[in-house]
Amino acid sequence: MQTNIQQLLEKRTFNESEIVTLLSVKGEEMKMLLDKALETKLKFLDNNVHLRGLIEYSNKCRKNCLYCGLRKDNNAVDRYEMTDNQVFQCIELAQKLNYGSVALQCGERQDKHFTDKIEYLVKEIKRRSQGTIGITLSCGEQSEQTYRRWFNAGAHRYLLRIETANEELYYKIHPKDSVHSFKKRMECIDTLLKTGYQTGTGVMIGLPFQTTEDLARDILFFQQKDVAMVGMGPFIPHPDTPLWQYRDLIPSKEERMSMTLKMIAVLRLVMPEINMVSATANQTIDDLGREKAVVAGANVIMPNLSPQENREEYSIYPDKACVHDTPEQCYNCLDIRMHTVSHKILYKEWGDSVAFTKRKQQNETTIKQ
Ligand code: 5AD
Ligand code: SF4
Ligand code: FES
Repeated sequence: MQTNIQQLLEKRTFNESEIVTLLSVKGEEMKMLLDKALETKLKFLDNNVHLRGLIEYSNKCRKNCLYCGLRKDNNAVDRYEMTDNQVFQCIELAQKLNYGSVALQCGERQDKHFTDKIEYLVKEIKRRSQGTIGITLSCGEQSEQTYRRWFNAGAHRYLLRIETANEELYYKIHPKDSVHSFKKRMECIDTLLKTGYQTGTGVMIGLPFQTTEDLARDILFFQQKDVAMVGMGPFIPHPDTPLWQYRDLIPSKEERMSMTLKMIAVLRLVMPEINMVSATANQTIDDLGREKAVVAGANVIMPNLSPQENREEYSIYPDKACVHDTPEQCYNCLDIRMHTVSHKILYKEWGDSVAFTKRKQQNETTIKQ
């Protein structure tokens, strides 16, 4: 069996059953997979880690995803929207800490006040930082026109997780109504790619009813769409959500962590130059989770810049790491944590996806010829 895995690990593309084999490894074979992924990452991207200062702009959401603490029907949440000044203070903090990029994240809304506001904030962040701060948006499904407006305002990366590439599973973790549509989610990914964003997507790992085959198909989906970034993390059941009732059906914390590491490692082999986030959720289920994900192939971390007063209300899942830590504390902590695993944080840089930049250059050369 061991030679089998060794042989598999020399390949660059895998079919579904080969990915299932890789996602099923344990013990020494799992170590071989993770080592190969680290070797691949170091070869293509060096030991660099990029930061995105996370601004949790608002927890208001029109959706009712069955897993998420911010779902519309969860009345236990006090809803907030940061003031413009609060956002600008986060930007000043990002600059003070030498973070080259921020990610503005929020629940999904499509009303005019909201879409205008995001456009305004993006423009202002660009203006106030004299174009030095890179902006990632993560504000859900929007119309093509809205995505275009935000892009033209200066956002150049967008994160929209598909949650799962399996339509049947999608409807087990989302209500079946017109607001939650698998088809619409897929169309949004295509629109984001077409608009010119460095497009990021991702899935949750260890969902109830999810199989290893599902996860293998998620990897094939990322590859097929040729996305620039991926963020994957373990599912963490939230007591105020409908999926809480299935908490006994899901794999243990340790199994979810291992599967997350294997997913990151396999994806790093398949897409060596993309940006891959080590999700904060990793640290919620394992104190060293974020470091482990970086050593398995991730190269992006998103430290929180949000004001203390709102943090507890941005409870997508329970026991989020760093909720009570200040951005300055996270700054020091992350720097040390990355050093302990022989990685270095690149400050003051946008940290664009190498895969995306190369593809863009190739396309421009083809057009010129
Ligand atoms: N556990 C882990 N991740 C979650 N997300 C939402 N709810 C949970 C949860 N209970 C993730 C989803 C979503 C992102 C904002 O957070 O993947 O896209
Ligand atoms: Fe809203 Fe996003 Fe949570 Fe779904 S996952 S309920 S869209 S914040
Ligand atoms: Fe936030 Fe360690 S990264 S306290």
